[in-house]
Amino acid sequence: MDTRAVYPGSFDPVTNGHIDLIQRSAALFDKVIVAILRNTEKTPLFTVEERVTMLQEATRDLKNVAVTSFAGLLVDFVEQIGASVIVRGIRAVSDYEYELQMALMNRRLSNKVETVFMLPAEAYSFLSSKLVKEIAQHGGSIHGFVPADVEKRLCSKFRTQ
Ligand code: PNS
Repeated sequence: MDTRAVYPGSFDPVTNGHIDLIQRSAALFDKVIVAILRNTEKTPLFTVEERVTMLQEATRDLKNVAVTSFAGLLVDFVEQIGASVIVRGIRAVSDYEYELQMALMNRRLSNKVETVFMLPAEAYSFLSSKLVKEIAQHGGSIHGFVPADVEKRLCSKFRTQ
């Protein structure tokens, strides 16, 4: 059986915690589709195109990983591309409530799609895109938190703002 999993998120920007989860998912599923939400409500730091490029660059050695974007309901996208699994990362207990709510709602919306929770390496349990942006904005070091290319892009974004 060819099991396709979707790893959805904002990825604004991708962190090493996300990459860790993508690597773990790629070892578990036949194909992993990293899907960036095209969200018109949020004001992201990076455009969807920039985020796709950063994720493609960071996952280019993982042959069963593809990167794309989606709009609308996640379960509709998952079904459209013939996937059956949604992967979400849980870093700490604090993530669990929101993730549980989303997973149960997604199950209600489609009983063909299963959510799988995965744990990133402990070293990344405190990492988030939001904190990384905040540190970079105030000139702190984000080395080791994001891929090298993302580190460069973040530094130049805040230098020019
Ligand atoms: O990285 P994020 O921002 O926590 O990811 C949230 C995401 C993209 C997984 C969630 O907002 C989502 O699935 N949005 C698509 C719209 C949708 O399906 N909403 C109902 C979810 S129960």
